[in-house]
Amino acid sequence: MKNFLKIFSIILALIAFFGCEKKEEKSKVYVGMNADFAPFEYREGKNIVGFDVDLMREIAKISGIEVEFMDIQFDGLLPALELGKIDMIISGMTVTENRKKFVNFSDSYFNSTQVILVNSENQNIGNFSDLSGKVVGVALGFTGDLVVSKLPNVSVQKFNTASDLILALKSHKVEAVVLDYETAKNYAAHNQDLKLIQSDAANEEYAIAMRKDEVELLQKVNEALKKIKENGTYDALIAKYFD
Ligand code: ARG
Repeated sequence: MKNFLKIFSIILALIAFFGCEKKEEKSKVYVGMNADFAPFEYREGKNIVGFDVDLMREIAKISGIEVEFMDIQFDGLLPALELGKIDMIISGMTVTENRKKFVNFSDSYFNSTQVILVNSENQNIGNFSDLSGKVVGVALGFTGDLVVSKLPNVSVQKFNTASDLILALKSHKVEAVVLDYETAKNYAAHNQDLKLIQSDAANEEYAIAMRKDEVELLQKVNEALKKIKENGTYDALIAKYFD
């Protein structure tokens, strides 16, 4: 009898344990982004909106996961992912060889490139090599930083966010900034005193980052992305945010 009770309680404990496990699997997926990068992620009042937000909501719908967005400084996103504070990053994040050492990336969902922004009256800069000998701003941890650090003779100044970067440019603390094309274009469209200069920087691909051990999540995200691209949702989002 005693043995029976023992076995019975062990079974109960196992059921409780696996029951919880299952619940945990279904629990929220925290998605990190740096909401200062229009049109991909930005604030409208208190809300975080943008292409990445909509895309991730569609992915969540298809794969049956519940997502909650967390706004984090861009260079804090990868550490937050590694520490388990967030489970995914969608933040206009470019796939790079170095980042791939630490995270898995989904299939890519957008192509971009780095461009230069200057004040409209500036006639000195027409391409990347003209940045030589100049004070150039980049945002901390952005791929623009990598592009600029490869140029000879540039004095690089780093800012926490894209907004800070633009402020520094407008107040002439830096002569030029290097930033992703769509975000730069968006700033130029809303600030007549800024001018966009497109040059010959490499193509970059944006993708969603996850921890390396989250293989199942990666698979779900890729399957959803594929559907979204096939069923017209992707094109609708492009039309909503880009013209
Ligand atoms: N594409 C660049 C990178 O991966 C910049 C991304 C910045 N994104 C943001 N949400 N602030 O480094």
